[in-house]
Amino acid sequence: MREKIVAGNWKMNNDLAETEELISKLKLQMVKEPEAKVMVAPGFPNLYPTFQALKDTPVIVAAQNMHENESGAYTGEVSAAMLKSVGVTTVILGHSERRAYFHEDSAILKKKVLTAINNDMTVIFCFGEELEDRKNDKHFDLVEKQLKEALFDLPKSAWKNIILAYEPVWAIGTGETASPEQAQEMHKHIRTLLDKNVGKEVADSTSILYGGSVKPNNAKEIFAKEDVDGGLIGGASLNAVDFVAIVNSF
Ligand code: 13P
Repeated sequence: MREKIVAGNWKMNNDLAETEELISKLKLQMVKEPEAKVMVAPGFPNLYPTFQALKDTPVIVAAQNMHENESGAYTGEVSAAMLKSVGVTTVILGHSERRAYFHEDSAILKKKVLTAINNDMTVIFCFGEELEDRKNDKHFDLVEKQLKEALFDLPKSAWKNIILAYEPVWAIGTGETASPEQAQEMHKHIRTLLDKNVGKEVADSTSILYGGSVKPNNAKEIFAKEDVDGGLIGGASLNAVDFVAIVNSF
């Protein structure tokens, strides 16, 4: 059974006090047992306080990035072991902002995913086309390439720890959303690729999230599509009322 998941990617927003305030509001707004699995991804310094504050709730705390090596002389980087030591066992990898601004390509992402899996972590793997790719009708091929290069060599057993997040770059932070039909079309394509390259069991059981300007007023329609299993939420996850409305949109 595919899990319904709503994950909030807080990106580089909120200091400690703001993080604590957002968590308090979330705890007030959210029902005790939401229908979807809920995750939030604060910045590195706020991971431990967030984990502590949400310990008594079903909300899972995720990191936004992680280094591909286990440890060593990599100034400024964070390892899987460091994350796990503060209670974080889920990590977002491959976000388009990491790809665009920090030059993370498929080769690096493949290593990062493998390191996360070897450390028994769950990965939210992001990918998606740019506007130019869609205009040139290359979006299906591009997504196939991104998945193939980073994920399709993984052992089948790794897939129980992988959540996919399709995030068309043109829809991130722009207020422009893929239509529910465009999301469904791509998610179906992704599931077909999983079936062909990994197997039916994995295709049927992997959650595929949509990300890109999901708001309370469009979440329901997008989440209602057959192959959309939830969302990865940026801007709207910084507002507790909006985020909880999205969590409740199934
Ligand atoms: P927005 O919801 O702000 O468009 O961001 C989506 C995103 O990048 C989530 O990772």
